[in-house]
Amino acid sequence: MKAMSIGLLGLGTVGSGVVKIIEQHQDKLMHQIGCPVTIKKILVNDPAKERQVAIDKSLLTSNVDDILDDPEIDVIIEVMGGIEETKDHLLHAIRNKKHIITANKDLMALYGSQLLKEATANECDLFYEASVAGGIPILRGLADGLASDRITKMMGIVNGTTNFILTKMSQDGSAYEDVLKEAQSLGFAEADPTADVSGLDAARKMAILSTLGFSMTIDLDDVTVQGITEISEEDLAYSKKLGYTMKLIGLSSRDGEKVEVSVQPALLPEHHPLASVHNEYNAVYVYGEAVGETMFYGPGAGSLPTATSVVSDLVAVLKNMRLGVNGRSAVAPQYPKTMKQPSE
Ligand code: NDP
Ligand code: HSE
Repeated sequence: MKAMSIGLLGLGTVGSGVVKIIEQHQDKLMHQIGCPVTIKKILVNDPAKERQVAIDKSLLTSNVDDILDDPEIDVIIEVMGGIEETKDHLLHAIRNKKHIITANKDLMALYGSQLLKEATANECDLFYEASVAGGIPILRGLADGLASDRITKMMGIVNGTTNFILTKMSQDGSAYEDVLKEAQSLGFAEADPTADVSGLDAARKMAILSTLGFSMTIDLDDVTVQGITEISEEDLAYSKKLGYTMKLIGLSSRDGEKVEVSVQPALLPEHHPLASVHNEYNAVYVYGEAVGETMFYGPGAGSLPTATSVVSDLVAVLKNMRLGVNGRSAVAPQYPKTMKQPSE
């Protein structure tokens, strides 16, 4: 039985988790897709560097074309980060008829529409579950589970690093700089954590969520953003004394034709369910006209939780390959920049 060959772009926090899950859950993968899965090549900056996971060093390359132009590779998993160069790599891969899985919200918030269009035109799948809320299957929840409903509002915590920082500062009185370093060492923060603490990472995720949830194109420029850099330990201590908890909240709502999307710090009463979402955990309320209130909760960052979403996308791609229905995945519709629904 022919194995499915994967090309992995990146072997950092998420890439290491992907290698572990593919190795350790091989039986489950076999059961789901009916053939073995092997990682054929891995792109890194520095093939000589010590790795977080045991790996055959002959798989490592610093030349991306070794992967993108390898005709035996069926699927590219992109967990290297970056925007412009990475977009070009993925377009190159799609034109070579390779299916794509990415955890890259920076890329999807800016170029998701172009990449999805190109993937569809080339009959390739492009899945990006891990780009929002790490290990929580919220994109599939919106695109599949709530496909029949009209979503009116989404509200929650979508950045693990800032939630980790606010939790530690508030609970233990830890200093901002110390907790940020801890979040970086645990692999929660972005390579440049400015995107986390400025609210930009959460804004990118809210743009992706809103695009899917409201079936319209929401650009990053449509999101009002404020991060947590101005919040002091004193602010948090005072809020706590008054019975409130500070959280970085993403809010996206629609009222008829009007949509508003924002990311900003908010004071929540201690009994509010989002107030008890701690550390790197994320939680998002999704309100639908028919379903009412639903909540998605789980680890929003970290190696194995994020890799779980990535490898679950891989299962979806490989099932589609087996059925011969690639390029029509549910997470890939093209939305106009309008609130008009087809039925209106
Ligand atoms: P890391 O910085 O830990 O890993 C990045 C990997 O990509 C490294 O192995 C690095 O090689 C390689 N790499 C980066 N740029 C290049 C390049 N130009 N050429 C060759 N190799 C390159 O990042 P993460 O694993 O944390 O994140 C990866 C992606 O997943 C990002 O898009 C991030 O936003 C997203 N993500 C991360 C989550 C997390 O919890 N960390 C959660 C959800 C999404 P080398 O090791 O040699 O330097
Ligand atoms: N830096 C991101 C976060 C990783 O902290 O939420 C998950 O997208």
